[in-house]
Amino acid sequence: MGRELAAAIGRWAALEDHPVRPELVAVCDTNPAALAWFDRVDGIRLKSADYQDLLADDNVEVLYIAVPHHLHEDIYRDAIRAGKDFLAEKPFGIDLAAATRIVEELQAHPGVFVRCSSEMPFYPGAQLAVDTIASGTLGEVIGVENDFLHSSDLDRGKPINWKRQARYCGEIGVMGDLGMHVAHVPLRLGLRPRTVFAQLQDIVTERPGPDGAAVPCDTIDNATLHCDAGFPLTLRTHRIAPGHLNTWRLTAVGMDGGVAFSTAEPKAVQRFGVRDGRQVWERLELGSQSVFPTITGGIFEFGFADAVLQMWAAFLAERAGALDGRFGCATPVEALDSHGLFAAALRSAETGQAEPVG
Ligand SMILES: NC(=O)c1ccc[n+]([C@@H]2O[C@H](COP(=O)([O-])OP(=O)(O)OC[C@H]3O[C@@H](n4cnc5c(N)ncnc54)[C@H](O)[C@@H]3O)[C@@H](O)[C@H]2O)c1
Repeated sequence: MGRELAAAIGRWAALEDHPVRPELVAVCDTNPAALAWFDRVDGIRLKSADYQDLLADDNVEVLYIAVPHHLHEDIYRDAIRAGKDFLAEKPFGIDLAAATRIVEELQAHPGVFVRCSSEMPFYPGAQLAVDTIASGTLGEVIGVENDFLHSSDLDRGKPINWKRQARYCGEIGVMGDLGMHVAHVPLRLGLRPRTVFAQLQDIVTERPGPDGAAVPCDTIDNATLHCDAGFPLTLRTHRIAPGHLNTWRLTAVGMDGGVAFSTAEPKAVQRFGVRDGRQVWERLELGSQSVFPTITGGIFEFGFADAVLQMWAAFLAERAGALDGRFGCATPVEALDSHGLFAAALRSAETGQAEPVG
């Protein structure tokens, strides 16, 4: 993900009138090959295997901390204590306890600006869906669904990696990987789960290790969270969703209307209404423009790299006090609330019952 940020900074000129102009000046990775990738990026003055070097460098104003989940707490808290602003990666600590301690560290250092990564809501279609739900035009809400669906783990021969081992990824498994992506919009819109009934599936229990021999793959592959938010709020994070490569989708229906967006059709939004007594799902063509205007022609498609650019534009604009009411990145409290939901989901899987989300 660090490379994605380097690429986004390289495309920064695509943004019209952004108040900030970032430069990539320092990089850290303990893996020499990962660090060497940044040789292709001009302007980097510091490359290190020790993140403390970046914390000690006065030229470094903002960090992006994208490391495995078991390292989040130590590195985030060290960065906060060093007074560095940063965009954190989800899930913002390996579990609820870690996320709580990170937020407590932030409360002890209120001058440090921190947000959590979640780029999918910056798709233009997602923005239209968010605005439609927020406007109240759906009327009494009947149900909301937000899903993030992958299929790469369908291949049982895919080698093990840290995201497939609970000690690095967390007991919350796929919810740690994909959960913030589906919690961000509901939490931002005030659609708060009161209870959750969770169906958690560990489908592939072993995978090839470094020498090809099978090793345990002990993480939850698929999590389906049936939440009560005053109406059914269903959140799916699936690593094994046949037919889906990287699909984020949001559907909301109410008594007066409906809206649906999926990254599988990045230019289009579906909108429901009753017209002349007939039920109509209509398709709106949206094009490329999101929260921050770009030079990209309005008719062109929006993609993952655009979403990453928009998220960074939002992060740096908000840090500069120039968000001006636009959609912002997930906050530390939203990340903590998402962990509260995931912890309740783990309890629900234990008890087989709906559990309160505290
Ligand atoms: N927002 C998104 O769409 C998105 C997508 C993928 C991953 N992520 C998140 O980004 C984070 C990293 O995931 P990834 O897919 O980039 O993982 P990755 O394994 O590809 O990269 C992690 C990097 O961290 C390095 N590293 C490990 N320990 C380190 C240390 N002590 N100091 C410095 N570097 C260290 C590793 O060498 C590796 O290069 C995770 O929190 C993950 O959930 C977010």
